[in-house]
Parts: sequence; structure tokens; C-alpha cells
Amino acid sequence: MCGIVGYVGNKKATPILINGLVCLEYRGYDSAGIAVLENNKVVVKKDKGRVNNLNSLEGIDTLEGTIGIAHTRWATHGKPSKENSHPHMDNSENFAVVHNGIIENYNELRQFLMEKGYTFLSQTDTEVIPNLIHYYFHNGVHIHEDKFLSAVKAATDDLKGSYAIEVISPMFPDKAIVVRKDSPLVIGKAEGENFIASDIPAILSYTKNFYLLDDKEFAVIYKDAIHFFDDSLIEHNKPVKNIEWDAASVGKDGFEDFMLKEIFEQPNSIRETIGSRFRLGEPCSFDDLEISKEYLSTINKIYIVACGTAMHAGLVGKIALEKLCKIPVTVDIASEFRYRDPLIDNKTLCIYISQSGETADTIAALKLAKSKGAKTLAISNVIGSSITREADYSIYTHAGPEIAVASTKAYTSQVVLLSILAMHFAEILNSVTPEEIEKLKSDILDLPTKIETILENTAEIEEFAKKVYTQKDMFFLGRGVDQTVALEGSLKLKEISYIHSEAYAAGELKHGPIALIENDVTVIGIMTDSSLVEKSISNLQEVITRGAKTLVVTNQVLPNAHFDFVVTIPETNPLISPILSVVPLQLLSYYISKNKGLDVDKPRNLAKSVTVE
Ligand code: G6P
Repeated sequence: MCGIVGYVGNKKATPILINGLVCLEYRGYDSAGIAVLENNKVVVKKDKGRVNNLNSLEGIDTLEGTIGIAHTRWATHGKPSKENSHPHMDNSENFAVVHNGIIENYNELRQFLMEKGYTFLSQTDTEVIPNLIHYYFHNGVHIHEDKFLSAVKAATDDLKGSYAIEVISPMFPDKAIVVRKDSPLVIGKAEGENFIASDIPAILSYTKNFYLLDDKEFAVIYKDAIHFFDDSLIEHNKPVKNIEWDAASVGKDGFEDFMLKEIFEQPNSIRETIGSRFRLGEPCSFDDLEISKEYLSTINKIYIVACGTAMHAGLVGKIALEKLCKIPVTVDIASEFRYRDPLIDNKTLCIYISQSGETADTIAALKLAKSKGAKTLAISNVIGSSITREADYSIYTHAGPEIAVASTKAYTSQVVLLSILAMHFAEILNSVTPEEIEKLKSDILDLPTKIETILENTAEIEEFAKKVYTQKDMFFLGRGVDQTVALEGSLKLKEISYIHSEAYAAGELKHGPIALIENDVTVIGIMTDSSLVEKSISNLQEVITRGAKTLVVTNQVLPNAHFDFVVTIPETNPLISPILSVVPLQLLSYYISKNKGLDVDKPRNLAKSVTVE
């Protein structure tokens, strides 16, 4: 969702900016643009549509400027159009700005500026920012000797909402200024050149040294220096972070799409997530988490809060935490949790799951719990992401960069990590027998090999996808833990194939959805819990009788069943079975999307990282 790139150095900025935008394409966008400082002017090239279209804009190939900013826009205020694309300039064309986030009071600010004689070319909230900077540059009180920085600071003081902003000006041809609040921004440091981006992969091919900008922190970036300032414009030093990911891990490695690559990476991402957190015969240990028995014993309720796929991982985690720790767990959607005054106190532990660590609702939900005195624990895939900087405790999934919008390897790693966390808490609380935990550890260690087995034979799923890709509706049914996988399978299908689908607890079938079953409707049943399998078979028989086409994902030998397709997966502990049963469902969505000729990695209207409400 909106991507930002910037460059301050000696090289031609344009190719670096465009290359960075290409790396950010996965976030979701509908327009793109760049601004480069060129012969004492700012030259802006922008339009709606794909980043690649920028290359054909007149005059873009002759730009020589070595300082520039760039943006991919995901429309919020104003439809996708050239006028609404970023960068935006002030009326005097002295300040060019790109912005990620939402300015909530932009109407009020626009009114204020119009009364001062400013005019607007776009419907965006962003366009107030360069004009406010211009206004304060000429009319403001300059609290710092750098008039440019003072004006940017004064302008951001007026903004309500969220923002990551880059500004350049031909009056100051050697620098860019950036600031952020509740929207991500990183600065990459290299020899004689510096880079700016919404996230690390966009500039990982240039440097591994990064600064993660804090909320309301400003940076003035020159080619050979970066100065950091707090919200009062007092300068401070900031430690540089070395990031271990390499650029190769952000490429497609010969796979046709990132999603397929990420599905196939799951054995490894699970191995990485397990890491050295446990071994057979030894208690679990988290280098990054120190939770005492005293504290844990006071906890009488756990909330797991997240959005989308991360929330589905939470539903699986709930089952493991309740079973092993005997503490009641409620799973909530972050956008609901944050507005419904949840019952939280210092005896509540709130766990937040976010692959990106930047999801606006999840971060807001975390801040709410903190303000009510609860301890907060973040599970993220991105070291130093906003959520991990807000939380009392943070643990990481180590799944590596996930680029496809539809989450796959992050989900399975989140479920693995929640299971390890549940074992860790259970060991501290002594709430189940060591034998029970030891068995689960061994089952978790076997997961990567079992996923490899599933991935060795995708032919059946490909064949089924060919048969059903023209369908309009599909249903996913499961009981117990399989119901959580049904939800995730259904979400994957919607996201990348645009087929309407619903997930139901199989026992609910008779309470409504069965009315929709008619000839050739596709129903997918997940059956991995031996204690519930007979009941699920009965539910599937009911839809077969009504003409449905069925695919079953199971680890059981099914008696006398008349399913059209059966995908057999290895057996495992029911607490972690979603890690295996989700894989055929991920593949099914993928192949259906391919059969429909859709863009698997960048589905319409969706964003990888939802940084606004
Ligand atoms: C978006 C993505 C989903 C993701 C959700 C939560 O909707 O498209 O794949 O599950 O956000 O993202 P997070 O980064 O917080 O896990």
C-alpha cells in the first residue's frame, strides 16, 4: 500500500528510483511517479498505471539528476489519475513531496491554504503538504537554522493522521528531508550515496546498512551524511542496523511467481523459525523473550489480535495455547478490537501477529492494550518493524522476505512460532506433562520433511484446479482446527482468483449454506482430526447428494467415500495440522489463479502491507 523510494548520491537517480519502485510493486498500487532535481528545478514524471509505464514518459530517459524521490500510489483520496499521482508540488514548484499514509484533517488544511491564496490540482490529501511547507518556509518561525527543515517540521505539526514523507527542493540541491509517523520508512546507508524506502527489500541490492526511522523523527539526507533530529529538531546520533537478508532471497529463483516460490520455501522457513528455540529433551528457549513464571502465573486471559491471514494463524495458536497452557484465549480482528473497548487489565497478555509489522489496525490495537496496562507481545517477520518497536516483547518468524500479496510462508511460520510459544509457556507453568510436549516437539521437527512430501506431488491439485477454475462460488468446510484452515483456504482463493468463496464450520452447513449447494458447486472439505472425521464425511455426503463437486484434504483413510478428488497429506499432531493441510489449499488457489491468467503476486485492489485504516 503506497511505496516510497528516494536517492541522494552521485549516480543518475531515475533508474535507481524506478528499480526501487519495481521492488515495492508487491505492496499494491495504481499509479507511480518520480521527482528529480535537475538544473535548479524539480522535474516530475508521473501517471496512473504500472511502474514500467514510467519508462515511456517523454523526457524521463534524459534526466541526469542525482537526487530524487519516487512513489507508488494506492488510491485513497481521489481516483487513480495523473493529477492524483505523487509526487505533488507546491504552487511555486519549490517543494516536491511524496507521502504514504492518510492526512485526516486535510480538508481543514486545504481550506486554510485556499484562504491564503493557494490552489490545488489534485483531490489528494497529500497536496496540502508541499503547500504547507511553502507557507511555513515564508511565514513560519524557524526553530532550526536549516530553514527547509524548520518548514517541514512546522508543516508536519499541522498534520493529523499517518505519514511517511520525503521532500526535495531545488533551493537545497544537495539533500532530501524525510519524516514519518505511523507509516514505515527506512534509510539505507552506502559509500557516497544514501537510499530511502518504505521497506528494506526495495534497496537491499545497494546496501545492508539501514536506519529505521522512529515516529516523528526527521532525517536530513546528503550523499555522504545523514543527520537525525527529534520532534523538537534537536540533533541526535542513531545506530546503524546491519540486515542479514540478501538480495537473492528477494528474487524469484527460477519460479514463475513469488507466491509459488514462497509456497516451496515453507520447509525452509519453518526450519528457520524453529531455529535453536528447542531441541528434543531440552526446554524451549527464546533468546528474544524473557517472561517470568511469576508474571505468567498472574495471566488469566490472552488476546490474539491480527488482520487477514495473520488472524487465521492466531486461530490455530489459540487452540495450542488453551490446550497446553490452560489459559482462555480470545482471537480478535484488530480493526474491531481497537474500537470495542475490550476488557483488558494487567492480568491480560495481548499477542499481536503481523508479518509486515506495519499494519495500521494491528499497531493501534497494540497501543490500546498498552494504555490499559496489559503486556504486549508482537510476532512479526520484519526485524525493527513498527509493531516490534511498540511492543513490550517481540519474537520473529524468520520466514525471510515475503513478496507475494497472498501470505503463505509467513502463515505457516506464525503457526509454528505460536506452537513453540505455547510449549514454552506450558513448560514455565508446568501445565502439561513433559511427555506431551516432547511428542509435540518431535512432530514440529518433522513438519519440514512432511511439507516436502506434499510439494513433491502437486499434479492432483493442478488437475483439480483445471476442472474448477471457471466456477463462481466455492465452499470450504472443516471442523475443529480444520475450520481455521477452511478460513485461510477460502481467503487465499478470494485474494488471487477472485472467486467468491465461503468457509464454514462443517456442522453449520445445515443452518444456512446448504441452501446454496446445487449441481457442480465446488466444496472443499478438510479432515485431519480422526475424532471428527466421520461427522465431516456426513456433511460432505450431504453436499454430494445435492450435486456438489468435492475435493477433500485429509490425513485419514476415508471409508466408502464418493469424493471427486482426495489429496492425502501426512499425519501429524492436530494442534499443528493446519501447517500441512494449508499447503494443498495454497497450491489450489495458485493454480486456479494461473488458469484464469491472473496476476498471482499482485491481485487487484489488495496491498501487502495495509498501513492505513
Ligand atoms: C494484508 C495482506 C495479507 C495479510 C494482512 C495482514 O491484507 O494482503 O496477506 O495477512 O494484510 O498483514 P500483516 O503484515 O499484519 O500480517
